[in-house]
Amino acid sequence: MKRSVVVIGSQWGDEGKGKITNYLSEKADFVVRYQGGDNAGHTIQFGGTTYKLHLIPSGIFNANIINVLGNGMVINPRNLLEEINNLKSLGYDCKNLRISERAQVILDYHLELDALKEKALGSGKIGTTKKGIGPAYTDKTSREGIRMVDFVSSDFKKLYSEKLNKKNEEIARLGGETIDFEKTYLEYKEIADQIQEYVCDTITLLNDGIRNGKKILFEGAQGAMLDVDFGSYPFVTSSNATSGGVCSGSGVGPTFIDEIIGVVKSYSTRVGSGVFPSEFEDEVAKDIRERAHEYGTTTKRPRRIGWLDCVVLKYSTMVCGFTGISLMLLDILSGLEQIKICTAYKVDGKIITTVPANNKLYEKCEPVYETLPGWKEDISKVTSFSQLPENAKHYIERIEELVGVKVKCFSVGPDKTQTIMREEIF
Ligand code: GDP
Ligand code: IMO
Ligand code: MG
Repeated sequence: MKRSVVVIGSQWGDEGKGKITNYLSEKADFVVRYQGGDNAGHTIQFGGTTYKLHLIPSGIFNANIINVLGNGMVINPRNLLEEINNLKSLGYDCKNLRISERAQVILDYHLELDALKEKALGSGKIGTTKKGIGPAYTDKTSREGIRMVDFVSSDFKKLYSEKLNKKNEEIARLGGETIDFEKTYLEYKEIADQIQEYVCDTITLLNDGIRNGKKILFEGAQGAMLDVDFGSYPFVTSSNATSGGVCSGSGVGPTFIDEIIGVVKSYSTRVGSGVFPSEFEDEVAKDIRERAHEYGTTTKRPRRIGWLDCVVLKYSTMVCGFTGISLMLLDILSGLEQIKICTAYKVDGKIITTVPANNKLYEKCEPVYETLPGWKEDISKVTSFSQLPENAKHYIERIEELVGVKVKCFSVGPDKTQTIMREEIF
């Protein structure tokens, strides 16, 4: 029996983590976000409705599942309350929500500083979601952050006033608009009163649960290539989106982790700046973008499109230890004459199969492609692997060979029903 399963993006985010987490959550007792914040945008579709979640885990729709915002997260309380109220208006009471008292809080000065820093970088900007993620994690690491436990306590007023004074100096120095204490404090106080009921010791909650035979599903945000340690630094987010982040971001030890599913989009996308070797922009890319509606869930920016990059997948498998793959958006490849897979990079006349740390070198990498025949059939209604066209089966099998990990499930449409299991995961 598996005690916990982890779902992680294997590429540059937006692989379909929300969809597969929601699907797998039916067998879980807890669904846990362990890093990132509302830079994430996770889409879930069932019963004819599409939901977009940014902070709240994708198991929230089932009242029997406890949904945890773990200690490794950075949480904008205003946006969290908005998300809670939105769910309430749709009939989900959110009584099954818990927030770690150790999670960091994103305040208005983080948003302002995120925008100012991006502006200062000019054409070298990271292309962040402007949700204050980087500045909030910077404060956490430099031990200047405010945690949820402080946010909902009577100490917040003094703490916030001290921090805001310092941050306003920095904002003014960078030419930004300073933030008014009285106005923002009163708003935060009201928000704190409303979210206080959810704030608790989630570390003990999860560990007691797992010792009592409860099952945990961890929901990663972003993807391995956006990880602060393993991604194309500095064009990354500010947290560990890879498996290492699960333990530090939830307080559950590595010995309790039984399965790590790499979520793989059947092609590649990236939003924001940074190296993207298999990127292409032509009629095929435009067609993919429109059919899959490849526009950011959080920022609405058009996503950059590329072929599947197995150098990246092997790398993310290595750093995350994937035990299975969930292959998403396979239906989007239907109708293509040919499908390319990047199997290596060519740089300075040499063939390499690793992801270079040096961005200048990575920029120079040319993808080496293997071309596979496509399939014409609409596969959005298939319910088993055997019903797939032969060329779609070959595509899946070739990915398994190249990456060395089994495709345990695949997805042929955005709806929950369009998910096919080849092997039980939970
Ligand atoms: P996440 O951030 O990893 O949760 O992914 P996003 O929600 O940002 O982006 C994935 C997009 O693909 C969403 O619009 C999903 O509804 C959609 N999606 C997920 N799986 C499939 C699939 O198998 N086929 C199609 N056509 N769309 C899918
Ligand atoms: P989900 O969970 C795709 C990208 C941003 C930018 C970089 C840094 O939906 O897959 P940040 O605001 O985190 O400082 O931005 O990371 N990024 C994402 N791209 N999906 C996401 O989340 C992302 N979260 C951040 O576009 O390039
Ligand atoms: Mg997303």
